[in-house]
Amino acid sequence: MKKLVIASGNPGKLREIERLLEPLGLEVLPQSVFNMPEAEEPHPTFLENCLAKARHAAEHSGLPALADDSGICVDALNGAPGVFSARFAGEQRSDSANNEKLLEALAHAERRSAHYYCVIVLVRYPQDPEPLIAEGRWDGEILREPRGRGGFGYDPLFLVPELGRTGAELALEEKNRISHRGKALAQLVEKLKARMRGDASGG
Ligand code: IMP
Repeated sequence: MKKLVIASGNPGKLREIERLLEPLGLEVLPQSVFNMPEAEEPHPTFLENCLAKARHAAEHSGLPALADDSGICVDALNGAPGVFSARFAGEQRSDSANNEKLLEALAHAERRSAHYYCVIVLVRYPQDPEPLIAEGRWDGEILREPRGRGGFGYDPLFLVPELGRTGAELALEEKNRISHRGKALAQLVEKLKARMRGDASGG
């Protein structure tokens, strides 16, 4: 079985990725087993930060590495909080403070459209000139007050119009099927399969 390091310490993400990649003959290791320093994420785009994290993990593990990066982009705020989603209200990275700040920023906004975005990058080695890149997007609207107890981050404010429910009102499996991360992971698996077949569409 080929080994792959995942540039994340989040147990939920690790389990999800493990479940999807195991059938492809890939064994997934968290980056914590390599005792590596935290990667810098200084860039203005999700893709650049994601690549930086994947390269960093490949460099410190000597293995192929997969990283993901995600956030929420609000149209009335020109795409903010974007790459700053986790620390929108400061370095304490508090979900409730971030949600409050978002509500304040949109207090007078009629236009409430927003989307979550997720990118996943796989590099075979740090200088890999052809990283495998998968993306997913999930469209919704920002409510004026939170609803629901599930999910995390901005989910209580994120209304999925087709369902009439927020991200925090969806069961985890349901969210994983339709979310930005779910879509990006599904695309990753397809691209990986194609690459393993030697097919050019594998990127
Ligand atoms: P990360 O890519 O896991 O570091 O996520 C960055 C930040 O974006 C999180 O801390 C959340 O604030 C936000 N975010 C990303 N995905 C989701 C989601 O599925 N629900 C709610 N918030 C999310």
